Amino acid sequence: MIVERFLADIEVAERVLGHIDAGTTDRTLEVWREPVANYRSEERFQSDLEVIRRSLVPFCPSGALPDAGSYRAGLAAGVPLLVVRGRDGLARAFVNACRHRGAQIASGTGCRNVLVCPYHGWSYELDGDLRHIPHVDGFPDVDKSTHGLVQLHVEEKHGLIFVRQHDHLAGLEDTSTLSTLIEPEQEVIEVNEFTVEANWKIHLESFLEGLHIRFTHTDTFFPFGYDNLNIVEKNGLHSRITFPFRRIETLAEIPANERQIDGKLTYVYHLFPNALLTVLSHHTNLIVLDPLSINRTRMTNYRMTNRGDVEGAKDRAQRDSKFVGSTGVEEDAAVVKSIQESIGSGANDHFTFGQYEAAIIHLHRNLAKAINYLDNKG
Ligand code: FES
Ligand SMILES: [Fe+2]
Repeated sequence: MIVERFLADIEVAERVLGHIDAGTTDRTLEVWREPVANYRSEERFQSDLEVIRRSLVPFCPSGALPDAGSYRAGLAAGVPLLVVRGRDGLARAFVNACRHRGAQIASGTGCRNVLVCPYHGWSYELDGDLRHIPHVDGFPDVDKSTHGLVQLHVEEKHGLIFVRQHDHLAGLEDTSTLSTLIEPEQEVIEVNEFTVEANWKIHLESFLEGLHIRFTHTDTFFPFGYDNLNIVEKNGLHSRITFPFRRIETLAEIPANERQIDGKLTYVYHLFPNALLTVLSHHTNLIVLDPLSINRTRMTNYRMTNRGDVEGAKDRAQRDSKFVGSTGVEEDAAVVKSIQESIGSGANDHFTFGQYEAAIIHLHRNLAKAINYLDNKG
């Protein structure tokens, strides 16, 4: 059965060891059929975007904006966002659009005292207030107090900065009980952006089950792991999949409450709807999947050191991510691309997610629920 909370590390270890002994794995009782049209239709794509805009979505780790004036710009569900840490230490999110004629105020990342539009120099305070208009005599009717940057809802918690662009969906309350996901000592060591030529859900699904490890990652991950042995937990709209390494078997000799799981398993958190947090042996990634069109997805990857890992953590993280990055990611990308290429063929009118793909079923059920609220109740 699927656990409805995130277990503590020692509970996960115990559960994994139990599965190894019994030759079992976590599974659900249901099977889900997802219409292929939901990956292909422009209308459904717009609904997916609206669900993302109305969800609290991780934008970046808190550590990506370390100082007053630190900012990061990026597209989220088709809307350019600018997230800035103010002098008061609070993170704020704005639509990245100048109130003069809409130019984007900043791009990429950096640190500034004032946000100056690159087009005609209108400048904004870190809290979004419009501060200065060059040649202001040409704008006799512009009330500065109503022309600040348009602010969005932000919550900084669990070590992440979350942004919600629109009102949340009534009916789709988040009942999750997440604890800290990223600790302050976890340093952001690299930020990468890739464009994946596939629908965002096809890409996302490739992270959320262990059925493919033996077949897709035959010579890379599989020799260190298992065939279809995973822990799947749900937590509100979110889920977490545990991929144990074979070396976890050494923990069987150790008393349960003394077991350290570091380096013995990979955690993949799915943060509904479109973010992932992967905790590997020596590094942690926040991955945000931003749909660009029905068949293109921007993937932003914040690579961090691991929790509690300080001395030499950066080097270990670099080595670890090189291995995972050059092997597993390419193998997954190839499969994802192949699905996108076949998806218009008509071979499938639905995809079947089986009892070992519970986290993906959870995703599709929640998405379907969200879209139902969107359609019926606004
Ligand atoms: S568009 Fe920003 S100053 Fe003109
Ligand atoms: Fe994979």
